[in-house]
Order: sequence, then C-alpha cells, then structure tokens
Amino acid sequence: MPIDLDDQPRITLGHWPTPLEDCRRLTEALGGPRILVKRDDVNGLGAGGNKLRKLEFLLGAALADGADTIITFGAVQSNHGRQTAAACARLGLRCELVLTKAVPMSGDAYDSSGNMLLDLLYGAHVHLCADEAETVAAYEGIVRIAAAEGRKTATLPVGGSNAVGVLGYVSAAAELYAQLGDTHVDRIVVAVGSAGTAAGLAAGIGLLGWPVRLDGACISHPAGESEADIRRLVGETGALLGTPVANLDHLRLDDSAIGPGYGVPTPQMWEAVRLFARTEGITLDPVYSGKAAAALVAAVRAGTIGADETIVFMHTGGLPGLFAYAPELVRSSENPE
Ligand SMILES: Cc1ncc(COP(=O)(O)O)c(C=O)c1O
Repeated sequence: MPIDLDDQPRITLGHWPTPLEDCRRLTEALGGPRILVKRDDVNGLGAGGNKLRKLEFLLGAALADGADTIITFGAVQSNHGRQTAAACARLGLRCELVLTKAVPMSGDAYDSSGNMLLDLLYGAHVHLCADEAETVAAYEGIVRIAAAEGRKTATLPVGGSNAVGVLGYVSAAAELYAQLGDTHVDRIVVAVGSAGTAAGLAAGIGLLGWPVRLDGACISHPAGESEADIRRLVGETGALLGTPVANLDHLRLDDSAIGPGYGVPTPQMWEAVRLFARTEGITLDPVYSGKAAAALVAAVRAGTIGADETIVFMHTGGLPGLFAYAPELVRSSENPE
C-alpha cells in the first residue's frame, strides 16, 4: 500500500533520497552477506544523521503552531540536540538544549568537543544538568522566561521520538523501498535508542506490506523495553495517520551489543568502527551506529545472519560523537582486542 504523508506539516531540511551504497569490501571482509549501507549520515544539514527526518515533521508541526522557541533534551553528546540546533539555525528559531550528564564519561573531549562544540557553534542555548531534578528545573525556567518574554515554545521529546517524529522514518521506509527497486533485501539493521527510528521503519514496512525483517540493535535499553517502546510508538503513529499497522512480525530486538551501558565503549564496537572505516571509508559513531554494526558483525559470525542474505545497514549518523571519544579510540587502537 502506498504511504501518504502529504497531510502532515513538514519542512524540508535534508537532501533526499540519501545514497544507498553497495559495500563490496565490507561484504567480502564479513565473508558473506551482501551489505548495503543507507547513508542517512550524509543527509546534509548540521553534519547529518537520523534526526533530520524526524525534525522535518516535528519542526513542521511546531512552525504550523506558531512556535519561535524549540526546547529539547538529551545527553551531553546528544546528536538529536546538535541536529535540532542546526535546524533551528536554518529556520531562524531559538533553540534551548537541556542536556543531562547521563553517561559516565568526562574529560575535555567528551565535555567540550563533538556535538557540544557544534551545539554552541549553531547558536543553541545549552543548559547542562547534573541529574533529573536539575533537568526539570532548567526546563521549567526556560518555559517561564519564554512566557514572560512573549515567546511561544514547542517541546520536543528525547530523540525526537513521538508519533510526529516517527513519521520521518515511515517516510524513510518508503524512500528505501522505492530506491531498492528489484533488489531483494532480507533484513534491515538499525540502532535503537529512544526507538523512533526503528518504530518508523517498522510502521513503514508494515504499511507497505514489505516482506523484510527489521533487526533492531539496542544501544541503551534492554530488548523487552525497546520492543515495548517501538510497539507503543507504532500504535500512536498508526492512530495519527488513521491507518493502524496490522502486525509487527517482522521486528526482532537484540541487546547483546550494549555492553556495560549507554554510551560506554566496548571492544566489539571499536572493532566494528574500524572495520567500516578500513573497508569502506565509512565513519560510524561509538554510541549508536558503532554498536549496531557490532551487533551485525556478531550475528554474521554466529550464523544468525546467513552468508546468502542481503542486508541494509541503516547508517544513522553520529560522526561528531566520535571526536568526543577521541582518547578512548586512540587507546583502543593501541590495544585492539
Ligand atoms: C547516531 C544515532 N543513531 C541512532 C540513534 C537512535 O535513534 P532512536 O533514538 O530513534 O532510536 C540516535 C539517537 O539519538 C543517534 O543519534
């Protein structure tokens, strides 16, 4: 069934369709499954990444509502925060980023480079918070001041993951399906954090009636929690579109690549980051796409993904985050596992 999103407010921010690359050297290095990489990391604005697709709908709705101030949340090295800051700069909106120290990382690179550097460069107002209580207080303060100054705010959830943001990846599923033409794909592999990206793909696959599997690689929450988040978001998106998604039998979650926790590097992640870099010149990030790639590599080695399959690896971006982890990357290169 064709997917019609024309009634939804939307503002173009990226370049579409993003490239789909046939990665022959990576395929050869993995000894089998043909790997196609969907390059949502190079979609244009603000150093690229998956949030642009969500922001086209989220900011489209905010502008339709008359908002002039966008507030959103994330970790210190939030890619969502950075892309929101860039999109706000492009649209002339005030951007308030409430960033919480949620990852046990520190040092000059983590605290001031990567996404943080770009947030400031794009002119965002950054509020650094130590914990949940500070985050709530910062948010309430921003809303109070905006009201006193006569500004209208729109608040976007963590990762841009609500039904409106999910539309970005419903649209991506349709884009990828059309781009593939006659090429048969067995499964799509994608990182799962706040779950909006996977939910959009899952909903899009369901609405298209596309017989492809969706393998979500959890990078923060256990598989059961991530699956519940995806199912809830798919339900809310179906309700928004007035078209329920009949089933999610194509969805599988794998949380084996998380390691000690969200944002904490693992040797398998660094190995996957190096593999993509050295076979294809493709840069992954340590928090999301690197761990999703580690899950892909592990599944190929375990035989869970067959050597005769064709896989689309959804590259969701995150390059600036790599610079925040520069000391850890250097250390891992000195002592590769
Ligand atoms: C680079 C990157 N990949 C993947 C994700 C996960 O996307 P989602 O939060 O929609 O699950 C994020 C989320 O921040 C991200 O920044």
